[in-house]
Amino acid sequence: MRKVGIASIGAYVPPKILTNNDSEKMVDTTDEWITTRTGIKERRIAEDWQASSDLAIQAAQLALANANLEAKELDLIIVCGVTFDYPFPATACILQDKLGATCPGFDLSAGCSGLIYALSVGAQFIANGMYDNILVVGGETLSKIIDWQDRSTCVLFGDAASAVILGPVDTGGFRSFVLGADGGGGKLLELPAGGSRLPASYETISQRLHFIKMNGRDVFKFAVRVMEEASLEAIDKAGLTLKDIDLFIPHQANIRIIESAAERLNVPKDKFFVNLDRYGNTSSASVGLALYEAFLEGKIQKGSKILMVGFGAGLTWGACVLEW
Ligand code: ACO
Repeated sequence: MRKVGIASIGAYVPPKILTNNDSEKMVDTTDEWITTRTGIKERRIAEDWQASSDLAIQAAQLALANANLEAKELDLIIVCGVTFDYPFPATACILQDKLGATCPGFDLSAGCSGLIYALSVGAQFIANGMYDNILVVGGETLSKIIDWQDRSTCVLFGDAASAVILGPVDTGGFRSFVLGADGGGGKLLELPAGGSRLPASYETISQRLHFIKMNGRDVFKFAVRVMEEASLEAIDKAGLTLKDIDLFIPHQANIRIIESAAERLNVPKDKFFVNLDRYGNTSSASVGLALYEAFLEGKIQKGSKILMVGFGAGLTWGACVLEW
């Protein structure tokens, strides 16, 4: 089996900023409540004309340029998300066309754990020698499925895309992957209508069932537990200990979830990269966006050992250890 690593990364956020003060004008909330309960100060919002592939292409083109790769050299495109352009065709195929690539592509749905799931899938194709260059993109326009009348969810999410190019490496690379799911918790975080269970109808629209519904408290408890368990499992599988990890890149949902995980793991909080204050929860784009910004800030060097960990709708979770 070949070793697999990250050849390059890219990310994109739309320019429009929605601050907590802006949210105060939309629903019964305060900057103080949002900041103390979540750590979020602002988030990015896509334009009406922008679908997830429009964000994804920007992140993908940056990652391709950073890898010095032409789109035609890609062997596979995997797009993960919860806000695909359409139920079908796959957003990966739309992206393939827009990029001018000729390779196969498919979408992967694993909630906010999407990027870690997609990295693990892409890594298999490279490890077994089938492909050399794989583009993995987490692209989200969550603003399109947020209920802007629901204060308990509309302050949490934002729009973004992140892209990773996977390739074979001689040294370092991914040392472990851990994936998990508990479908019994699916109801805790869902978009009830628009699928085959509840097709679009006058009733589904009038009952606002095409928007995110979440039991925040139960998702919070689940998140804190799986962040700890999945991180420890991935580190153990990699043959490492907690002390060996230079940087933790957690899913950026809520600062209190990240701080609780740091406390439970007994890891200094400054080892956890945080940018949710500026972007909110960008679902499957979040871990890649954090990785990209950590790289730009010089927090990642050759040989750095990085733990990425995420959780989300499904319920799902995932973690991986990467040696840069
Ligand atoms: N402004 C003011 N008050 C609010 C707001 C708001 N924006 N939202 C909720 N409240 C109120 C509630 O109505 C409640 O009032 P009540 O006590 O009178 O009923 C009170 O604040 C406390 O509500 P809780 O839900 O208990 O608040 P909590 O401290 O749990 O924080 C939060 C809520 C931020 C949603 C938290 O539970 C959380 O972060 N959960 C995890 C969510 C998450 O990570 N989701 C993403 C999963 S990833 C994916 O796949 C998309």
